[in-house]
Amino acid sequence: MNYHVLTLFPDMVMQGMNTSIIGRAMEKGLLGLEAVDIREFSKNKHKKVDDYPYGGGAGLVMQAEPVYLAYESIAAGMEKKPRVIYMTPQGQVFNQKLAVELAKEEELIFLCGHYEGIDERVLEEIVTDNVSIGDYVLTGGELAAMVMIDAISRHVPGVLNNEESAQFDSFHDNLLEYPQYSRPEEWRGKRVPEVLLSGHHGKVDEWRRQQSLKRTLERRPDLLEGAKLDKKDEEFLRGLKK
Ligand code: ADE
Repeated sequence: MNYHVLTLFPDMVMQGMNTSIIGRAMEKGLLGLEAVDIREFSKNKHKKVDDYPYGGGAGLVMQAEPVYLAYESIAAGMEKKPRVIYMTPQGQVFNQKLAVELAKEEELIFLCGHYEGIDERVLEEIVTDNVSIGDYVLTGGELAAMVMIDAISRHVPGVLNNEESAQFDSFHDNLLEYPQYSRPEEWRGKRVPEVLLSGHHGKVDEWRRQQSLKRTLERRPDLLEGAKLDKKDEEFLRGLKK
């Protein structure tokens, strides 16, 4: 997977992504990341990339041409037109399903805006997906792109090792993950649930399944609609709701 981030703050993106699991995967060559500085494509002698909005109003708008040239500098060398994701609070809300889908691409371009947005004409020309990371407004798209890159990378083969596997994530099958415990058996008077010490794998699995169901019902009941539940799950949930 190769990520290309079109941005006015390339250092922010590169420095934000070079640690932890994502940094390790970049060193291994499983992931490529480049931040393309839109300002470098300004024809203005002061490297200006923004101007007043036609029709008036507050703030400045990023101009079409530098964004387009930055895009072209990457896309021109590609065999097929890549997906171009514009980070905007006006987009579809990012989720695990979209992360899994995007992880199948070989190249992804993220376009990060600032100020009051980007000239609509270049967006019409290059953007394939408008994506938001939640219903709040950030000062720019960079943090949002970094959130997406992190979540997508976990689904690129080889990025996680077996122990970190994305297969057992929260949101796998639309259920939240069960609670986890480690040593000691008793911490400040609180004991680890006995079933986890029993060594009985069947019972442990059943307990974890029930904890997942309980947690999802309590914290994110909206997710249950999309979860695959068997008769036993449904019966357990009915018991909880009473
Ligand atoms: N840019 C500003 N706010 C954003 C959000 N919520 N998601 C994605 N990009 C953004």
